[in-house]
Amino acid sequence: MRTEQPKMIYLKDYQAPEYLIDETHLTFELFEDHTLVHAQLLMRRNPVRGAGLPPLVLDGQLLELLSVSLDDRELGAADYQLDENHLTLQPSGNSFTVDTSVKIHPESNTALEGLYKSSGMFCTQCEAEGFRKITYYLDRPDVMSTFTTTIIAEQHQYPVLLSNGNPIGSGPQEDGRHWATWEDPFMKPAYLFALVAGDLWCVEDSFTTMTGRDVALRIYVEPENIDKCQHAMNSLKKSMRWDEEVYGREYDLDIFMIVAVNDFNMGAMENKGLNIFNSSAVLARAETATDAAHQRVEAIVAHEYFHNWSGNRVTCRDWFQLSLKEGFTVFRDAGFSSDMNSRTVKRIQDVAYLRTHQFAEDAGPMAHAVRPDSFIEISNFYTLTVYEKGSEVVGMIHTLLGAEGFRKGSDLYFERHDGQAVTCDDFVKAMEDANGVDLTQFKRWYSQAGTPRLAVSERYDAQAQTYSLTFRQSCPQTPDKQEKLPFVIPVELGLLDARGAEIALQLAGEAAPGATSRVLSVSEAEQTFTFVGIAAKPLPSLLRGFSAPVKLSFPYDRDQLMFLMQHDRDGFNRWDAGQQLSVQVLQDLIGQHQQGQELVLDQRLVVALRSVLANDQLDQAMVAEMLSLPSEAYLTEISEVAQVDSIHAAREFARQQLAEQLFDSLWQRYQANREVSKNTAYIAENEHFARRALQNIALSYLMLSGKPQVLAATLEQFDAADNMTERLTALAVLVNSPFEAEKAKALAVFAEHFKDNPLVMDQWFSVQAGSTLPGGLERVKALMEHPAFTLRNPNKVRALIGAFAGQNLINFHAADGSGYRFLADIVIQLNALNPQIASRQLAPLTRWRKYDKARQALMKAELERIRASGELSADVYEVVSKSLA
Ligand code: TRP
Ligand code: ZN
Repeated sequence: MRTEQPKMIYLKDYQAPEYLIDETHLTFELFEDHTLVHAQLLMRRNPVRGAGLPPLVLDGQLLELLSVSLDDRELGAADYQLDENHLTLQPSGNSFTVDTSVKIHPESNTALEGLYKSSGMFCTQCEAEGFRKITYYLDRPDVMSTFTTTIIAEQHQYPVLLSNGNPIGSGPQEDGRHWATWEDPFMKPAYLFALVAGDLWCVEDSFTTMTGRDVALRIYVEPENIDKCQHAMNSLKKSMRWDEEVYGREYDLDIFMIVAVNDFNMGAMENKGLNIFNSSAVLARAETATDAAHQRVEAIVAHEYFHNWSGNRVTCRDWFQLSLKEGFTVFRDAGFSSDMNSRTVKRIQDVAYLRTHQFAEDAGPMAHAVRPDSFIEISNFYTLTVYEKGSEVVGMIHTLLGAEGFRKGSDLYFERHDGQAVTCDDFVKAMEDANGVDLTQFKRWYSQAGTPRLAVSERYDAQAQTYSLTFRQSCPQTPDKQEKLPFVIPVELGLLDARGAEIALQLAGEAAPGATSRVLSVSEAEQTFTFVGIAAKPLPSLLRGFSAPVKLSFPYDRDQLMFLMQHDRDGFNRWDAGQQLSVQVLQDLIGQHQQGQELVLDQRLVVALRSVLANDQLDQAMVAEMLSLPSEAYLTEISEVAQVDSIHAAREFARQQLAEQLFDSLWQRYQANREVSKNTAYIAENEHFARRALQNIALSYLMLSGKPQVLAATLEQFDAADNMTERLTALAVLVNSPFEAEKAKALAVFAEHFKDNPLVMDQWFSVQAGSTLPGGLERVKALMEHPAFTLRNPNKVRALIGAFAGQNLINFHAADGSGYRFLADIVIQLNALNPQIASRQLAPLTRWRKYDKARQALMKAELERIRASGELSADVYEVVSKSLA
């Protein structure tokens, strides 16, 4: 908590640090009611800042200073200044040593930043600015140092003592305590520091690198979870191999460790050699984790591992450059997941997520560029824009340069900047230099916020046999009022003839036709491309693979979309044609509902999905994706004014109609797949994910029929499944059904069976929080009283509160404002406990401009109530004040 008004920090004010730290030596004495931290910093004047010795200003928060020495001379109170956030000293030479001792309180740290306790173990989270809660330091990413860390703790309770780097010594003390020392030879910023002390078991393995070095791999967990580590270990080894093969990157230390903790604000953290993970991002086995959870574990293990190069060896100069490591690393982990599973399905899922949530962020009060130019609290900028849109920007560079050119660029980047703290401009420069290209205009993607619109129109000239596409780009105003200049938009496209065959493409001025799919670079506000030798008017397939994060519009009619669904060579665009068709059909229904008319479903959607279901050549995961209607959240995002009730009614009506009209084919595919599932032991691999995905979406449609044989099948699947994917779907289907007795029984059986597994209980909470049946808020309030629930655990908050406010739109947006009031009450409580989580849970309220006047007023009133509720953390203050501005 603060006492002064939080202030805005600007990229344009960046200055290199006045002083550097070459070596950091830390000793931690861990006790139950406090911890002592002794730090020795070997420092020097930063030569780039010139001569003179300005005061040394160290960052520090919530630290009780016990002693401070400069070059072995203990300072008196008159020799330094202390305020809430700093310790200021006057160095007397170019090189000097600072020693401090501080007392901190991890045992009462509920913010989960700095050193804290989770389920009895000590752990740390230092990114972005948490290290200043551990000791006085230059807590900024461009100050890089080697670290040695000694940990001293009671032996029985904390047998395992870990920090970054390699272990160099350990031993008992006479008082029942013991110590261990770790040394990290790689220069790193403080945000990558980590410490763990606890009673942990580990799964061990090893990896031989491309140059033949053996690396010890260890995953540390609480003893009861030792049977849930194998999937993460397999994922780690696959990631290490993949990074060697695809990026030429080898691991550098002799040991790589992952530790799972139950209380964690995000997914995981890439601390050098000692990644700390939310247990939800490590633990997975068939009986307790769904397919989606298995895929998430694989992706996050890869993401954190890949940071060892994209983030740690080459780090960020300042926090405005966060996407330098996050956008690039998300791009890398998406490439990995695509290679391990289905590329098209991964792309579909990523794009659906981006379009729903990042586009909404880009259109809201917190909109910011991939490289923001100001912030109040950096924790608020670990966003969909920095991560997901940042990854799209790197992906567009990949598209423009091709795989080989991109690899040349990344090689140059890693070679040129190894051991440095650099900027997004440095990344792009390496791409430019390695390929001899100019990306100056392209870099607007880093500095301009907002989602570009790309309106496309066509003109066919039968006489000349030419076909022209005209692209008009624009970008909506964002809160920064910045003027938007044209982006470079890579548009991958193809042209289909009347039979659905692809046409070899030749632009006017080119000598001969070439490939059937190519990338056009649209860089002007309006630009026309003309194809020649086109014998009849074609149908364009635009933005294949979603080659740019834009809102593209082309006046397709529904028959054309059905044609693309069948014939497009690009799997992503086949899916997207289906989504566009669904959107058109759903928008009809939304309009009918608004007008009080009878709802009538356009039969073309039924016909299109019937043929998808009948196609046994299609990847079953693709069938499942194509059967999924656009979510209510997406329909909200694309609406001018979101009509909550009509969106819900329209989508539910369409689902009901599809369930009835496609019942036989859904039932047949469900039964066939369930039969295979029954006879196959669980395997966390693509083909099995695909089978279960189709089986489960089929079941969720089928239950809408209310037929007794579907209820029986659901109960059979719930009782007999050997894995959480099938069991949880059966539970969710029951929870959303009218079969009250069966629902209550299944919920009780499930909770009794899994009451000691917090991650499974999270799923139990989520399934109920997401139920769109009436009475949602009362159910959520009742669940908050359940013994397994606590506001102190971020996973619990996300599972219950986050799922309710983010996914259960019809209940959260109840017209009486009860959902908003509830969320505001929670945010006020969380603000005092855990500001990062409080500020994230606020997101749904920040979208108030999307709704009707009555809801707008109710949402704003709750934001104002939060603003007036007392002392706000910088995190909540920033989001609330920007939302109301
Ligand atoms: N660097 C982490 C990642 O993306 C993000 C992270 C983990 C984080 N914990 C955090 C960010 C706490 C802010 C606060 O892999
Ligand atoms: Zn990351």
